[in-house]
Amino acid sequence: MSSDLSVVFTGIRFPNPFLLSSAPPTESDSNIMRAFDAGWGGVVTKTIGMHPVVNVKGPKTRFTAADYHTPHLSMKRRPESVLHSSWNWELISDKSLDWWLPRLEKIKKAFPEHVLIASIMAGSESDEELEHWRTLTKAVQDAGCDGIELNFSCPHMDREDMGSNVGKSARLCTLVNSVVKEVARVPFWCKLTPMTTDITIEAEAAFAGGAHAISSSNTFTSLPLVDPDTLEFEMNVEGYVSTGGLGGPAILPISLAKMAQMTQRFPDKEFSGIGGISNFEHALNYFLLGCGTVQVCTAAMLDQAIGPNVIRKLKEDMSAFLARNANRGWTKLDDFRGLLRNRIVPQSQIKRPEGRDYHGGHDAEGYAPQDEPVTVKEGE
Ligand SMILES: Cc1cc2nc3c(=O)[nH]c(=O)nc-3n(C[C@H](O)[C@H](O)[C@H](O)COP(=O)(O)O)c2cc1C
Repeated sequence: MSSDLSVVFTGIRFPNPFLLSSAPPTESDSNIMRAFDAGWGGVVTKTIGMHPVVNVKGPKTRFTAADYHTPHLSMKRRPESVLHSSWNWELISDKSLDWWLPRLEKIKKAFPEHVLIASIMAGSESDEELEHWRTLTKAVQDAGCDGIELNFSCPHMDREDMGSNVGKSARLCTLVNSVVKEVARVPFWCKLTPMTTDITIEAEAAFAGGAHAISSSNTFTSLPLVDPDTLEFEMNVEGYVSTGGLGGPAILPISLAKMAQMTQRFPDKEFSGIGGISNFEHALNYFLLGCGTVQVCTAAMLDQAIGPNVIRKLKEDMSAFLARNANRGWTKLDDFRGLLRNRIVPQSQIKRPEGRDYHGGHDAEGYAPQDEPVTVKEGE
C-alpha cells in the first residue's frame, strides 16, 4: 500500500507535513518556487513588515561546528567537525510589502496546489501599528496566500512593541491576534518566542485572541563564542556584537520541551513544530508530541539554500516509517501523532527503585529517615 503523507492542518491540506520556515530559504519568489519544485509541503515566507529594515554590515548568519574528537566549538570551517548550531542576527525581510505582493500572486498562480503561508509582523503599541497588522493580513490573503503566520518571535528587535517582545506579553498576544482575526479570511498561526518562563501562558493568550495554531520555536537568544586567538566574538561588526538567535541541532531538545508544555496543556489545539530538524527522526519527536506540521530552516540553508535533499529524505523516511509500522495499522501521520504526549510527567511520578518512596522532595510525615549516617573518622 502506498503511504499517504498528506495532512490537514488548520483546515489547509498539505501534500506532506514538511514546511520551510520563515527565513532565508523563503526570502524570494525564486527560492519559494524552487522549494515547491523540490517537494516541500508548504513554505512560510520570510517575515513581511511595513517598517524600514536595515540589516547589520557583513554576514547575518553563520554556523558553529563541533570537533569530532575534542570539545572545541567554532564557526571556522574545518574538516572533522559536525554542525552544532546556526547563529543569526538577521532582521525580517528588507523587501517592502509592495515588492512581495505581485510575487506572492505569481507563486500561487504557478503553484496553485502548493501551500503558501505569509509571515507578517508589525508593531503593537499604537492604533496605527495595529492597523498595519490589518493591512498586512488583508494584502497577503488578497494576493492568494493560504494562511498567515504572525511573527511574535524574532529575538533581535530593538523595538519594544515588536517580535519576541510581543510574544513575551500575554496582553499583546491576545490583542494582536484579535486584531488580525477581525479581517482574516484564512487561517492564521502565531509563532511564539520560546524565551519566556512558561510558554503556555502566551499560547493561551494567543488562542484567546483567535489564533488557529501555534508555531514554535524561533531561535533562542544567544551570543556567538569568542575566538581565543583574536579575543574577538566570532561574529562581530568592528568588534561589537548584539544578542542574536541560536538555531539548528543545538536547540532541538529545548524546543521540544517548550512544545511538550503546550501540546499537553492544549491537546485539542494545533501546533507546528520548529527547531533543530534535519531529518525524519527529529521531526518524529515533534509529531509524537502532537504537532501536525513541522518547519525547517538551518538544515535547508546548508543544503543548496532551500533543502532539496533534506525534503527528499524527509519524505522517503516518513514513507519508510509508515511501511515499517503498517502492522500497527498506521497509514498516515494522524495514526501516530501525539502518541508520547502523555509520557512527560512530573519527576515525582517517575518510578523510584523498589521499596523507596518519594514525595516530590517532601516526606508524607516530617523528614524522611536518613540512610546510614555518614561518619568521618579523623585521619581518614
Ligand atoms: C538567518 C535566519 C533568519 C530568520 N528569519 C526569520 C524571520 O524572518 N521570521 C521568522 O519567523 N523566523 C525567522 N528565523 C527563524 C527560523 O524560521 C526558525 O524558527 C529557527 O531558525 C529555528 O529552526 P531551525 O533550528 O531549523 O533553524 C530565521 C532564522 C535564521 C537562521
